Amino acid sequence: MKYARDLAVVAALMVALTLGTYWLLVAIYELPVAASTEAVEIDVLFNAHFFLIAFLFALVSTFMVYSIIRFRRRPGEEDAVGDQFHGNTFLEIAWTIVPLATVIFFGVWGTQILADITGDVEDEMVVRVIGQQWSWFFEYPELDDLRTTELVLPVDQTVRLEMESLDVLHSFWVPEFRVKQDLVPGQVHDLRITPTLVGEYKTRCAEICGSQHAYMLADVLVLSEADFDSWVQENSVNVLALSPAERGELWYTQFGCNACHSLDGTVLVGPTWEDLYLSERPLASGETVTADDDYLQTSMLEPNAHIVEGYAPGVMPQNYEERFEETEAQYGGEIDIVADLIAFIRAQSEETE
Ligand code: CUA
Repeated sequence: MKYARDLAVVAALMVALTLGTYWLLVAIYELPVAASTEAVEIDVLFNAHFFLIAFLFALVSTFMVYSIIRFRRRPGEEDAVGDQFHGNTFLEIAWTIVPLATVIFFGVWGTQILADITGDVEDEMVVRVIGQQWSWFFEYPELDDLRTTELVLPVDQTVRLEMESLDVLHSFWVPEFRVKQDLVPGQVHDLRITPTLVGEYKTRCAEICGSQHAYMLADVLVLSEADFDSWVQENSVNVLALSPAERGELWYTQFGCNACHSLDGTVLVGPTWEDLYLSERPLASGETVTADDDYLQTSMLEPNAHIVEGYAPGVMPQNYEERFEETEAQYGGEIDIVADLIAFIRAQSEETE
């Protein structure tokens, strides 16, 4: 064959370039540690795509560069004309069928892995995940409705996260687990994760959701089974036995007030709670009001009624009345969340006197 030697050289160069490009891609796009069973399967698929990309790049560039150098016009060949080709049936059939089969193969493989990591699992643990501008809340219906602002999971236990958004689109994403799921207002979406590595991770919101989107983070802790059990023990507080101010402190984090209101004077999205109680509040309307119980209650339930000078209206969620009522019902109506929060806010002033 006329070009047998050239083809052999091109084949050797292609193997080298494929491996080199694959190595480079894996090094540049280094993934974080794979900390779930889902991550392992996804990484296999991911790396197979990298390999295919590397091979296609090598296929095109090796033939092109080799031909440019090897078959260039040399001195004395000014009038020479190369061989002319008009179509090649074998090649045309091959470059239609091979890519088609490859795409179908990856489609089927991807679907299988998707079905595998999203399918029902026996003995799964359910955790509700609630997203709201700009905080995450987690509820454990199987553990007396334990509520937290960090997601704590036992290792090697499949968990089904039931996700809900109270306002706009958010997206739950822990890079080490690889899987990701949007939270859609008015719908509940499931995401299954089986953490395999004890450690500390972070979930970040992966869907732009307003001015504080970048700070919508929550800690994710994967604990050994024994540590998880003691964590549950420690965090199962008897809410009814607490004082109103202590309960207020609990609500302060559980309802995400802490995302926007500091306790130390720091200015966040909303006014600080330090020395807030009975202070004079200059409003954007020009009036000044006293931050008494009525004012605080109105500010929680109808956040746009009074806007303090220098802060934007429409930022605070307006559904706290509903959310408080829902939680109060869980405790048989024996608690008053607004009163608890006011007691907690009051404590933030007394402490510094
Ligand atoms: Cu929530 Cu971005």
